[in-house]
Amino acid sequence: MATVTPWEVKGSVDYDRLIKEFGTKPIDEALHERIKRLAGKDHHFLRRGVFFSHRDLDWLLDEYEKGNKFFLYTGRAPSGPVHLGHLLPWLFTKWLQDRFKARLLFQFPDEEKFLFKEGLTLADANHWLEENMLDVIALGFDPDLTDFLIDTRHAGMLYPEAVKVAKKVTFSTVKAAFGMTNQANLGAIFYTAMQAVPAFLPSVHAGRKVPCLIPHGIDQDPHFRVTRDVLPGLGQYKPAAIHCRFLPGLSGMATDGKMSASDATTAIFTTDDPKTVRRKVMKYAFSGGQATIEEHREKGGDPAVDVAYQWLTFFEEDDAKLRRLHDDYKSGKLLTGELKQVLIDKLNAFLTSHQERREAARKLIGRFIIKDSSVFKRY
Ligand code: TRP
Repeated sequence: MATVTPWEVKGSVDYDRLIKEFGTKPIDEALHERIKRLAGKDHHFLRRGVFFSHRDLDWLLDEYEKGNKFFLYTGRAPSGPVHLGHLLPWLFTKWLQDRFKARLLFQFPDEEKFLFKEGLTLADANHWLEENMLDVIALGFDPDLTDFLIDTRHAGMLYPEAVKVAKKVTFSTVKAAFGMTNQANLGAIFYTAMQAVPAFLPSVHAGRKVPCLIPHGIDQDPHFRVTRDVLPGLGQYKPAAIHCRFLPGLSGMATDGKMSASDATTAIFTTDDPKTVRRKVMKYAFSGGQATIEEHREKGGDPAVDVAYQWLTFFEEDDAKLRRLHDDYKSGKLLTGELKQVLIDKLNAFLTSHQERREAARKLIGRFIIKDSSVFKRY
C-alpha cells in the first residue's frame, strides 16, 4: 500500500482511494465541461485525469459567474533543484492564470524544509529559493499578475495572520492530520499555519473576501483540510482546491509513485542538458517492452507500465499523436528505444527553451517579489 503525506510519497498510488480517504470530490464530466466552457478551452491535464480531484470548485465557479473573481495560490518549499514532476501544478496554474486572467500568489516557504529535513540549513534553503524562483518565472507567469511571498522575508506580513490560524489548531489536530508525534519540533507543529495564510491574506488587505483556488499535488491536501476547517472561524472563505497526480519517477509507477529530487536516477531536472536527459531516459526509464526485438514485434509492449509512454501522457498534448504511439507500441510496430526517443525529443525541446527563459528570468526576480501589502488591493 502507498504512503501519501506532505513529507513522503511512497509506492504505487491508488488515486480513487485517495479521493475517498481524503474526502475530496472527483472531477467528473460535468465539471470538466464547465471548466472548458468558462476557460474557453480544454486542457490535456483535465482530459487525461492528471488533475483528477477538487474541493469546492463548483462553488468557486459559481462565484466567478456572479462576477466575484478568484485568485490562484500555490507554492514551493525550496530544498533542491526543480524536476519535471514539480512543474505539473505550475504549468496548470499558468494556464488558469491565462484563461481566467487571475492573479497568482506564489508562496516560497523557505523555512519549511529547514524544519522538516535533516541537514538542510536556512542558507541552503535560500540558495534553492533563488534557483527555484527562476524556474517559476521561466514558465511564463505574467509579472503584472503574479506575486512571490517568501516566508522569512515577508514574516512581518505573514505572522500576524498565522497566529490567528495557530490559535484555532490544537496539537492533537496536527498529530491526526499529519501523523506527527510528540517528538515533532515546535516549528514543524506550527508550520501549517504559515501555509494557510496566503489563502486569505489578500482578503485581509483588500477588505473584502476574495475567493481562492489552490492548484496543488494531492499530497498537500492535509494542510488545506486544516486551513478549510479554521478559516470560517476567522470570517474568511474556505479556499477551493484542484489536485493533481504525481509524475512517476523513471523507475516506474510500481516503485516510484512520485518523482524524487533526492534520487538523480529517477528524476529529470529542469537544468539537465540534452545528453543527460537522453542518458537517463535510455538507461533508467522502466520499459514495458519485451526482452528481444523478435519477441517485441510478436507480442508488442505494454504502455500501461512503460514510463516513456506514461510520461508522454503528461507532456504530449496532441491526442491523435499519443493514440498512434500507444497503438504502435502495443502492436509491436514501435520499439522501446524508438518510443524513448520520441520522449527524449519532446523533453529536450521543452527544456532547451525553458533553460533560456530561466537565464532571462534572473533580471526579472525583482518584479515578482512582493514589496508591501498594498499589492493585495489589486486582488
Ligand atoms: N508545502 C509545499 C512544498 O513542500 C509548498 C507550498 C506552500 C505549497 N504553499 C503551497 C504547495 C500551496 C501548494 C500550494 O513544496
